[in-house]
Amino acid sequence: MNLKQLLDDKVTAAMTTVGIADAKAIVKQAQRSEFGHYQANGIMGAAKRQKTNPRELAAKVLEQLGDDKDLQLEIAGPGFINITLKPDFLAEALKGLQNSHRLGVDTAQSRVFVVDYSAPNLAKEMHIGHLRSTTIGDTAVRVLEFLGQKVIRANHVGDWGAQFGSLLAYMDQLASQGEELSSELKDLEKFYQSASALFRSDEAFASKARSFVVRLQGGDEKCLALWKKFIAESTRHCQAVYDQLNITLTASDIRAESAYNDVLPLVVDELEERQLLVESDGAKCVFLDGFIGKDDKPLPAIIQKSDGGYPYMATDLAAVRYRASTINAHEVLYFVGAQQQLHLRQVFAVATAAGYIGDHQRFRHLPFGWVLKADNTPFKTRDGADVKLVDVLNEAVDRAHRLVDEKNPGLSPEEKKTVARVVGIGAIKYAELSKNRTTDYIFDWDTMLSFEGNTAPYLQYAYTRIQSIFRRENISPTEIHGEFHLTDPAEFRLAVKLLQFGEAINGIIEDYQANILCNYLFDLAGIFMSFYEACPVLKATDPHRTSRLLLCHLTARTLHKGLDLLGIETVEQM
Ligand code: ARG
Repeated sequence: MNLKQLLDDKVTAAMTTVGIADAKAIVKQAQRSEFGHYQANGIMGAAKRQKTNPRELAAKVLEQLGDDKDLQLEIAGPGFINITLKPDFLAEALKGLQNSHRLGVDTAQSRVFVVDYSAPNLAKEMHIGHLRSTTIGDTAVRVLEFLGQKVIRANHVGDWGAQFGSLLAYMDQLASQGEELSSELKDLEKFYQSASALFRSDEAFASKARSFVVRLQGGDEKCLALWKKFIAESTRHCQAVYDQLNITLTASDIRAESAYNDVLPLVVDELEERQLLVESDGAKCVFLDGFIGKDDKPLPAIIQKSDGGYPYMATDLAAVRYRASTINAHEVLYFVGAQQQLHLRQVFAVATAAGYIGDHQRFRHLPFGWVLKADNTPFKTRDGADVKLVDVLNEAVDRAHRLVDEKNPGLSPEEKKTVARVVGIGAIKYAELSKNRTTDYIFDWDTMLSFEGNTAPYLQYAYTRIQSIFRRENISPTEIHGEFHLTDPAEFRLAVKLLQFGEAINGIIEDYQANILCNYLFDLAGIFMSFYEACPVLKATDPHRTSRLLLCHLTARTLHKGLDLLGIETVEQM
């Protein structure tokens, strides 16, 4: 059930009948109102155009609507219509939610989505910068799947670039010195740093590294064997991070840059056929209108370098080709940092010119900003290195553990461990998801782990408080039978909010802003707390007691499902 849709259908229809043009988007939620939960706007403008009095025009709309069984309507102010949902309607609609395992959220017509997210470069360990793409992308796939879409996760990891030359050359050198490779690879970050230091300081090593890239991309057995060993170790690292972060990506979602290797010459041929390729300084390039470099000269999209190597652009074009033609996706979403805006714009433009993307297909870049420290500087270690993501996750769990120790010393060590994991990881993800996707945000431990404010611990705690109501009297929430019976304004507010869950879910996928759902859950928890203060539950008599227990249960289910769609777990006690 979509409340907004229902109101839109009824009220918009009546408004259209009395000649209010563009009546589609005029019903909007009156934000903070207690009783008039919705408001129909747009009458003032229409009255001006029709040269009539707005209150008279509003009266005509009401006349059209007649006596509505669900809505109570009333003219307010200079010419608004306040819309209140009638108690019987609310009770009936809540019953619908209660009986729906999807909490009233309809499935959409099924379309195929490819979601490109996380995508670290395998040469290094995942760092804090990967948090955004990984968590935001994972929420997108969870929500799309919940809405009944077919989703293909695409982890377009970097495993084929120039950095692998140094890594392989270094592995080769260590092996020839008789070192045990697997123990050396335990700390990938250190391994990568040692290899790049050698690359910078030792010319013989650097030239060997360069030759190893060419040999690797040309299919040389020895290089491939070393490379496979490295990639296996590196993907193990990534998977450990995904598991700890409760991310739905698995090994089978990896479709790495190298997977497109065989198609790259074909891409070059096809661009050639379309007469798009131009040779510039020995490289094969595409020049398109609208792409100007920093030097004010036309900016090439380099498809093949003069040494025959294929850059990032080429593998991305091959990926577009695969997603559009082989997978036949309707929508392809790229959760990639804002700094790659130009690159992806160029990829999409060249792919369109090449005829890879059909008219019915939509490729979208959904960029995001940086994660910053409190002093607004990039999140780096003191010596300027990237902060490893595992270290951040471990710190989150440690900090949460200290909090749990303090707040609930009575829990068993096992329980504390679980709560620490769920709260610590939840806090990090929620801090990410509750911000506007496109702007930078400040990573701050104290704010994200606070039990007050718009945070994961606050919502997780709200959930446990509801569960404790049931525990107190050993009530099994699924076995409460009876009717909703709403009389108190706090009950109306809670009912309306519960009925808006579907709106919040659908709101996310318009522009993939997860903060829409976060704000919804935060509001819901707050409205629940006011309800709980205003309306006794266990001490009330029937029909109120049953009705209120049902409201508690629906709220708990909604919080649980909402957090689950954000990839955040809950516990029963904390
Ligand atoms: N591996 C890239 C990086 O770390 C991100 C890949 C994003 N996806 C894409 N299709 N280009 O910068």
